[in-house]
Amino acid sequence: MQRNWAIVTVLLTALLYLGIIAWGLHLHHLSLFYPPHPPRHAMAWVAPRHGNIPPGPQGDNVRRGELLFNETPHYASKYTSSKVSCSNCHAEGGIQPYASPMVGLPALFPMFNQRAGRKISLQDRVEECFVRSENGKPVDYQGTEMQDIVAYIQWLSLPQPDRRPFVGRGLIKLPDLKPDPVHGEQIYKEQCAGCHGSHGQGRAPLFPPLWGPYSFNDGAGMNNVAKMAAFVKHNMPQNRMGILSAQQAYDVSAFIHAQPRPVFNQAYQHY
Ligand code: HEC
Ligand code: HEC
Repeated sequence: MQRNWAIVTVLLTALLYLGIIAWGLHLHHLSLFYPPHPPRHAMAWVAPRHGNIPPGPQGDNVRRGELLFNETPHYASKYTSSKVSCSNCHAEGGIQPYASPMVGLPALFPMFNQRAGRKISLQDRVEECFVRSENGKPVDYQGTEMQDIVAYIQWLSLPQPDRRPFVGRGLIKLPDLKPDPVHGEQIYKEQCAGCHGSHGQGRAPLFPPLWGPYSFNDGAGMNNVAKMAAFVKHNMPQNRMGILSAQQAYDVSAFIHAQPRPVFNQAYQHY
């Protein structure tokens, strides 16, 4: 009798185990134990890894483009004598949200451009920053520099299946405020001069100049108090991002705006 009970117990236990295993196998489709596809909203955009750069000449373009983007005065010395790199404004190699990032741009061009009054290509837009923000000469569209930069932007923008699209295009939106450049000078001395220098000269290549002969010219997007304020509010001071109020960002930008800088060469007006 006792033996029978033992057999029944073993059988029941075995059944129970099998049941649990079967249940687990079955339910894993219902994402209870191992979600087969993590929910889309939980997968944030991630920067592409260097290991994913394609092999061959296409990859060489991307690698050269990255160098050009991050150390523009060095790798594009033919075209600019400034000490400003693309990544000084398009921070973190062009992926920092609300520092006018490059991610996703290829799909958005050609696009209507207010300044040009026409539809422009991504190459046109890069050129615009070359002759204004870099205070440089136009880059040859067929040349390796333009192709490398575009290849780098395309690589940053490769679609990422099941991941959230990149958020943070352009700059943050600030209200329209009336700036006080005198107060701005005070803020500059306290919060900015440590890196950008008391005369805005910067410390190349780490800290870009903010005015003077090696800075962007007066045709640049950054040479606009509201735009610079939007950049500064979100991205500066670089080691304590976000500490300034919108008013303080306007004040310090108005102070910087009032300092001397190179004059835009009108011969490049159509860019
Ligand atoms: C002094 C700062 C500065 C530098 C240096 C600079 N840019 Fe820009 N760039 C800007 C600003 C400001 C905008 C416009 C942002 C806005 O209005 O939303 C912009 C816009 C762009 C855009 C269009 C972005 C969009 O969302 O439509 C591209 C592409 C671009 N820049 C590429 C470059 C490249 C490539 C370089 C280097 C060769 C460069 N920029 C250097 C400040 C700069
Ligand atoms: C800790 C050092 C540091 C401090 C402090 C700092 N910056 Fe910057 N700044 C940088 C660096 C580095 C960059 C290049 C972009 C990046 O890497 O984030 C930059 C970029 C900039 C740019 C765009 C590049 C250009 O050439 O115009 C502006 C404008 C700017 N800073 C303004 C300011 C203002 C205004 C303050 C003070 C409120 C400030 N920064 C404080 C380090 C600093």
